Amino acid sequence: MNAGILGVGKYTPERILTNFDLEKMMDTSDEWIKTRTGIEERRIARDDEYTHDMAYEAAKNAIENAGLTPEDIDLIIVATVTQEANFPSVGNIIQDRLGARHAAAMDLEAACSGFTYGIVTGAQFIQTGAYKHVVVVGADKLSKITDWDDRSTAVLFGDGAGAVVLGPVSEDKGLLSFVLGSDGSGGKYLNLKEENDKLYMNGREVFRFAVRKMGDASLEVLEKAGLQKEDLDLLIPHQANIRIMEASRERLDLPEEKMIKTVQKYGNTSASSIALALVDAVQEGRVKDGDNLLLVGFGGGLTWGALVLRWGK
Ligand SMILES: CC(C)(COP(=O)(O)OP(=O)(O)OC[C@H]1O[C@@H](n2cnc3c(N)ncnc32)[C@H](O)[C@@H]1OP(=O)(O)O)[C@@H](O)C(=O)NCCC(=O)NCCS
Repeated sequence: MNAGILGVGKYTPERILTNFDLEKMMDTSDEWIKTRTGIEERRIARDDEYTHDMAYEAAKNAIENAGLTPEDIDLIIVATVTQEANFPSVGNIIQDRLGARHAAAMDLEAACSGFTYGIVTGAQFIQTGAYKHVVVVGADKLSKITDWDDRSTAVLFGDGAGAVVLGPVSEDKGLLSFVLGSDGSGGKYLNLKEENDKLYMNGREVFRFAVRKMGDASLEVLEKAGLQKEDLDLLIPHQANIRIMEASRERLDLPEEKMIKTVQKYGNTSASSIALALVDAVQEGRVKDGDNLLLVGFGGGLTWGALVLRWGK
């Protein structure tokens, strides 16, 4: 049984925080942020708007978009690092709110690689025939763990959620190959500081790692799928920094129009970044039946994940 995407949904908070707003909050400039990262603005959740609220909206929209009801769902996987409590999980909370009575639920932590890990995990249940419909959500409220006194990280992140419904698709469609990886020795470069529960990052080390791994993982997953660079229709990379994304695109010899870019409007939204980029691409009509998509991400852990998907049912 092949596992593919049957529906997509997203949620982004209403409040927009622009680079010009940040100029008033800290010693930074629109020019610095734009040239170093490609980010122009990001969405910030309200104080009383939590990761599970965003995850719920995205999942609800994806289930509707798939033409299903919550009762059709067998499993909910939420990739996140910003749950309000270790348990109950965000998955449990939204399972109840959705009324997904028959669904099992869990959270998965792989930081910004979480959505790729989630799709690969969910697909296993479909491929074995154990489950028919799996919701995979990438949701994070990074503003909650952002150190607003650290200008080198505070300007990078945003909040949001994206979701897909996975289900069985025809033989030549769906997930064709994947690569997942971990290098825990790099955990020191990107983590939650114990003293204040805020994000710490060594930007240069993460940048170096990201450029290398995004390129390597992309080429590896393409080969595993038995495809050539020119067979690729869309690259959907983790939206952390336009310079890292461009390096991946160049390793794959792809023209600009084949890469989905949302970093300018959402910033780095962690586990939801690739999900939001995919949903926007679908909603803008940029994904056609039979297209070969490459999703690739990296993040805290350190982790990375890449997968090739052929679009359609
Ligand atoms: C964070 C990042 C944008 C910094 O870009 P960079 O080109 O490496 O910049 P540097 O760290 O060399 O800093 C250059 C200067 O800008 C300054 N600077 C840092 N943040 C700034 C800001 N927001 N506004 C203005 N200046 C800033 C630094 O203090 C430094 O000044 P100095 O030279 O006087 O010391 C870049 O390292 C990066 O994107 N790394 C990867 C991060 C990432 O993708 N994380 C996602 C994990 S999932």
